[in-house]
Amino acid sequence: MKQRIFNKDEAKVLEEIILHRRDIRGNKFLQTPLSDAVIEKILYAALNAPSVGFSQPWEFVIVKEQSIKEQVKQSFNEENQKGATYFKGKKQKQYLQLKLEGITEAPVNIAVFYKKSKDPVLGQTSMKETGLYSVVCAVQNMWLMARALNIGIGWVSLINPRKIKRILNAPAENQLVAYLCIGHVVEFLEKPELEIIKWESRKLMNNVIINNKYKIQKHENI
Ligand SMILES: Cc1cc2nc3c(=O)[nH]c(=O)nc-3n(C[C@H](O)[C@H](O)[C@H](O)COP(=O)(O)O)c2cc1C
Repeated sequence: MKQRIFNKDEAKVLEEIILHRRDIRGNKFLQTPLSDAVIEKILYAALNAPSVGFSQPWEFVIVKEQSIKEQVKQSFNEENQKGATYFKGKKQKQYLQLKLEGITEAPVNIAVFYKKSKDPVLGQTSMKETGLYSVVCAVQNMWLMARALNIGIGWVSLINPRKIKRILNAPAENQLVAYLCIGHVVEFLEKPELEIIKWESRKLMNNVIINNKYKIQKHENI
């Protein structure tokens, strides 16, 4: 079978897409509607993600109705208020100034669910979480495909999954993995906003890469 070989320029484009992907929040979304063709391309990328045992354990709810988005936003407001209490002083002040979602501003929201297989899945028999990991792979494909189309995605996790399931009439066995806000954008920031405001900085390679094995831990519990 003829295989596709990528050249250096194509590899560079992928690197550019990875480096320029950003999380997009409400202050950066344009109201311009998203075409069905664009939504389909993003979903097609999701459906081509790797998955444990090729189980493809995902379902996607496309939300365009403003009244549904408003109910989800209500859950965000509750959770975000609680979230702020985890931080104190200057950090809390900074937290409260952040816009951490774009639910009602984005023309399209997509709720991504994990649907556990009823049958044993090849490869998932030891690490049950690999089903969920597969869904996250699909989300990353969506995020990168969207960026390649100059479309923004924001991942909102400050929501109550039980409430979102109820709002969307989701089957009991479905697990909410991601709630995504999608749309055209005013701009893509050069760096993560949390890096710009000095909330966090990017980790350096030599701080997270271990050669061969970890050094013996001082307080080994195993
Ligand atoms: C699992 C996950 C959950 C996230 N949840 C939120 C969220 O609730 N609100 C938000 O503003 N950003 C959220 N983000 C976006 C991150 O804050 C963002 O990816 C990070 O700051 C790096 O910025 P960048 O994506 O623009 O590179 C989430 C990202 C991931 C991967």
